[in-house]
Amino acid sequence: MTIAELIAKKDEALQEAAAAQTPEEVEQVRIKYLGRNGLLPAIVKGFKDVPKEDRPAFGKITNQWRQELEAALAGKKADGDTAATGPAFDPSLPGRWFVPGSKNPISRVMEETAAIFSRLGFSVADGPDIETKFNNFTALNTPAHHPSMDPTDTLWLTDELLLRTQTSPVQIRTMTANKPPVRIITPGRTYRRDTTDATHSANFHQIEGLYVDVKPVSLADLKSTLTYYAQEMMGPRCKAIRFRPHFFPFTEPSVEVDFQCHVCGGKGCRVCKNSGWIEVAGAGLVDPRVYRFVGYDPDQVWGFAFGMGVERIAMIKYGIPDIRWLYENDVRFLDQVK
Ligand code: DAH
Repeated sequence: MTIAELIAKKDEALQEAAAAQTPEEVEQVRIKYLGRNGLLPAIVKGFKDVPKEDRPAFGKITNQWRQELEAALAGKKADGDTAATGPAFDPSLPGRWFVPGSKNPISRVMEETAAIFSRLGFSVADGPDIETKFNNFTALNTPAHHPSMDPTDTLWLTDELLLRTQTSPVQIRTMTANKPPVRIITPGRTYRRDTTDATHSANFHQIEGLYVDVKPVSLADLKSTLTYYAQEMMGPRCKAIRFRPHFFPFTEPSVEVDFQCHVCGGKGCRVCKNSGWIEVAGAGLVDPRVYRFVGYDPDQVWGFAFGMGVERIAMIKYGIPDIRWLYENDVRFLDQVK
C-alpha cells in the first residue's frame, strides 16, 4: 500500500463514520476499522513490509486515523445516547404558571363609560391630541386673555397648535362636521403643564359628553343623564347627583357635579371627607356663542355638555390613593383592581 492509498482509505473510513446514523451502523464502522480483524490492526501488522523510508509517515498517518476515527465514533455515540432518552419535555414536572393580565383602570373606566352612554344613544367620537388654538380655546368661547391660555399651564407647540388641555375641542369638531342632533362622548388624553404628585399628572384623561338637539334640552335632562351614569358607574349606593353653580366659558349656566358617595351612600365617610358627596364633573348648557362658532343657529338648538376626569373616577371607584400607580403598570397593583 502506498502513502496515497493509505490516506484515501483513512478518508473513506472517516466518511463512513460521519454517515453512520443508528447505533448499529456506528458499531459496524468500529468493527470494520478498529475491531480485532479490522483494517487498522491489519495495516499495523503489515508495517514490516513497508519500505523503511516510508515507515515514519505510515506510522503517523495510521495513528491520526485511529484517533480521528475513535473521536468521530464517540461523538456519534453521544448523540445516539441523548436521542435514546427521548425528548427533553418531562410531562410529570409541574407547569409554569402564567397569570393573565388585566386592564388598566383608566381603560376600564373609559370603556365602561362608553358602554353606559351607548345605552342612552350616545356614540364615541375621537379627536387628536394636538389641537388648534381655535378648537381648544377660541370656539369654546375662551378669549386670549383667559387664564387657561396661560403658557405656564398650557403646552404650546406653535402659536396656533398645542397639546389639548381638555377633551372639549372634540365638541367643536363634532358640531362643525355634523348637523344636530348630536349625542357623543369622547374619551381621550389631555395635557397640562402640571408637576406630578399624588393627585396631579401632566398627562391625564378626560371623558367629554355633548348632546345637542333641535328641540329644547334642559338642565333636567343633563341631571337625569348624569344620575343614570353615576348609578351605573359607581354602583347602587350612589343614588343621586347634585349640581353646584360654577363657571365655564363654553356653558351657560355652568355647574359642578357631585356624585353621592358610593362608599357610605351619602352618610359621610373618609372617602367623601364626611360630606356625603364627591366632586366628579364640570357641566352645563352649551353657551349660544359656541353654537355661532360652529355654524349652528343658537335660536334653533339646545344642548348640554359635561367633562369628567377619568383618573379621578378610577381613583374614587377603586379606592386608589395615588394617581401615579395608574401609570406604573405594576401587575401587583393592576391585579387588585381586576
Ligand atoms: N373642559 C373642562 C375642564 O377641563 C371640563 C368641562 C366643564 C367640560 C364643563 C364640559 C363642560 O363639557 O360643560 O375643566
